[in-house]
Amino acid sequence: MNVDVATSFGSAAMDVAPPDIQQVGIIGAGQMGSGIAHVCALAGFPVTVVDIKQDALDKAIAVMARNMERQVNRSVITSDDRDAALARIVTSTDYGAFANADLVIEAATEKEDIKRSIYKALTPSLKPSCVVASNTSSISITRLGASTDRPEKFIGMHFMNPVPVMKLVEVIRGIATDEPTFQAVQTMARKLGKITAVSEDFPAFIVNRILVPMINEAVYALYEGVGSVSAIDTSMRLGANHPMGPLELGDFIGLDTCLSIMQVLYEGLSDSKYRPCPLLVKYVEAGWLGRKSGRGFYDYTQSPPRPTR
Ligand code: CAA
Repeated sequence: MNVDVATSFGSAAMDVAPPDIQQVGIIGAGQMGSGIAHVCALAGFPVTVVDIKQDALDKAIAVMARNMERQVNRSVITSDDRDAALARIVTSTDYGAFANADLVIEAATEKEDIKRSIYKALTPSLKPSCVVASNTSSISITRLGASTDRPEKFIGMHFMNPVPVMKLVEVIRGIATDEPTFQAVQTMARKLGKITAVSEDFPAFIVNRILVPMINEAVYALYEGVGSVSAIDTSMRLGANHPMGPLELGDFIGLDTCLSIMQVLYEGLSDSKYRPCPLLVKYVEAGWLGRKSGRGFYDYTQSPPRPTR
């Protein structure tokens, strides 16, 4: 079903020029927020990163410096580019720092109630013209937008991990998103060196609708004893030419994020084929969330990481 409601809605409200995005705000200093700040700063945008935790902000600056250093070592950027980009990034624990932002990209935890409470606290600090984008990987943009004071300036901008490397940004309009906002975000993504794919506002959009059920199926294969962690990952790396096996990729994305996406698909599409694997649920309940917690389908305290089953 291709419901192009957003396109027809947008074209009716079209005579305004797209907002000119110069200053960018990012909410969340985790792996996605820091990756987005990294590419925005390298593309020449002054960036303000806000998180509730100062130590997360300090860590994000260190991560960005390390990842830019990798790019310098591989001659992707020069050390002058790196220094200039790092100088464009400021951090704060206060949304007041977004007073001059033209675009704020929210990359907080993938929990709808948390995102809603962020928008409630955030929007009074923004200019009326400021576009708000969510990097949500699965939650309805229409519903998130409706919880803000500016549903017409609210849009999905879904980056892939690792952001500095992955070329794609999925762009998702909610039913109320206006055409200038859509055009501004497309232009912005191009300036970041990304290619966009437009997805309608369906649960988990395009990439995660296809990718995360594959990871869930790999966990089922492990759960049912079809193969070991190494056998499953080797099969998909060498048998399907995937850069990472599905279990390794699940650990990389975060098993909690994979589980949330399966729950959004299962509940949003009411189809049992999206049932989260009980073993995935158990790993998340155990706090075995993948790379970020040191253990998932691999044990990351060992070098190289050792399969746990
Ligand atoms: N920042 C900057 N550069 C980075 C980087 C980072 N965080 N991580 C890797 N790189 C660069 C390296 O410097 C290297 O650069 P060159 O190509 O210029 O040499 C390149 O990326 C490859 O890195 P490595 O040699 O270290 O390692 P690799 O060849 O094993 O590649 C990988 C690593 C790019 C992560 C690769 O394994 C890969 O593509 N994996 C799949 C990633 C994927 O599927 N991502 C999507 C996840 S889904 C998602 O994000 C959506 C969601 O909502 C859940």
